[in-house]
Amino acid sequence: MDQEFLILTDPANGKQIELPVLRPTQGPPVIDIGRLHREMGYFTYDPGFLATASCHSTITFIDGDEGILQYRGYPIEQLAEQSNFLETSYLMMYGELPRPEQLEEFHNIMTHHSMLNESLKSFFRGFYHDAHPMAIMVGVVGSLSAFYHDSTDITNPRHREIAAYRMIAKMPSIAAASYKHTIGEPQVYPDNSLSFTGNLLKMMFSVPCEEYHVNPVAEKALDLIFLLHIDHEQNASTSTVRLAGSSQANPFACIASGIAALWGPAHGGANEAVLSMLEEIGDVKNIPEYLARARDKNDPFRLMGFGHRVYKNYDPRARIIRKMCHEVLKDMGDESDPLFELAIRLEEIALSDDYFIARKLYPNVDFYSGLIYRALGIPTSMFTVMFAIARTVGWVAQWMEMIGEDNLRIGRPRQLYVGPVQRDYVQMDKR
Ligand code: CMC
Repeated sequence: MDQEFLILTDPANGKQIELPVLRPTQGPPVIDIGRLHREMGYFTYDPGFLATASCHSTITFIDGDEGILQYRGYPIEQLAEQSNFLETSYLMMYGELPRPEQLEEFHNIMTHHSMLNESLKSFFRGFYHDAHPMAIMVGVVGSLSAFYHDSTDITNPRHREIAAYRMIAKMPSIAAASYKHTIGEPQVYPDNSLSFTGNLLKMMFSVPCEEYHVNPVAEKALDLIFLLHIDHEQNASTSTVRLAGSSQANPFACIASGIAALWGPAHGGANEAVLSMLEEIGDVKNIPEYLARARDKNDPFRLMGFGHRVYKNYDPRARIIRKMCHEVLKDMGDESDPLFELAIRLEEIALSDDYFIARKLYPNVDFYSGLIYRALGIPTSMFTVMFAIARTVGWVAQWMEMIGEDNLRIGRPRQLYVGPVQRDYVQMDKR
């Protein structure tokens, strides 16, 4: 197909520029504005990146209007039904589903990189007991940059691969140790005989003085939730990882920056915020009051777990998690969880409310995930940590994709400067 162009005319002088229109394999066309500033002297302005593609990628595709999510072209529903977290992680890292021997090797690698350097223990001890586990995660994952000097030559593909294995495999161990620190229990070493999620559960909930049996319902549910959280295109934390990585920074430090970005309540912190919100609402009779607050522009309250920058339709992950919530609560003998019933009523009422209809605000992935975590006995402060464990795979895949490109350029946005124009320094006694 011939190259298409979008022609822009400068109203000031009639000068024209032909901007190439890039055609993706799926999704809307993209205008390449790379020459705009050099040739026309203009920047573009798009705060929040509402219409800006920051990179090209082959990893995740989202059609927000249709509520479609694909990992490497595979619909999320098919992967959720037929795959598992580790297999999908392999797919995300390497682009293709693994053959049996490749998956076995991947599983082996993941289990054999799960231990933490013993020196890291003192990092955990440095945190006060009431530290939020996400604060510990940001610090400890960042501190991994001070270890593993054998895998930080980012120009070497094998180094990148080993760093990626380490990040994915060590994340559950760091997460569990963060939790153990906050409750004053001893850290539990990883158990190579267990699955990825079984091992995490054991490291979080077992104590050295008692035998521990992994609950298969919890193990399976967590595996599915992790799969659904692996990647989500160029979201805030992934873009943060890419931007940090574009300066050729240490990969562990890049992932720590992603964890920091994920923590906010507008992003991964929403799962924790949903639970707090449901507890605060407390009863179906209070829903109208909270919806009125969500509609009120003078009130900072937002319905947590609702709305999404990209989805203007039901988040496909939320649909899967909602169904799973029914099953998990049933299996865990908690079918009549009042907060789940409250969440379902809240969803029904919000979805028939004009404010939410007009703005196409639907439940997102975080609306129901917290309820599942809660049913599995995972404390609220660990919800976003769970998200971080899974999303590490996406961050790593996106980082590898970016670093592996021929033409890595540092990310460096420009701005619309609205500050003072040049003025002269005023001596202290004249101010
Ligand atoms: N409750 C009430 N009003 C909302 C909500 C909400 N949850 N979400 C969006 N709106 C309104 C918003 O006030 C705006 O109204 P108006 O056009 O009258 O000014 C309109 O809907 C568009 O919202 P926006 O803030 O411009 O949309 P955004 O794309 O910048 O923000 C969002 C997306 C996810 C940050 C936002 O919907 C939100 O704060 N939701 C609650 C937090 C949440 O659940 N976050 C998890 C997102 S999914 C997982 C993840 O990314 O990690």
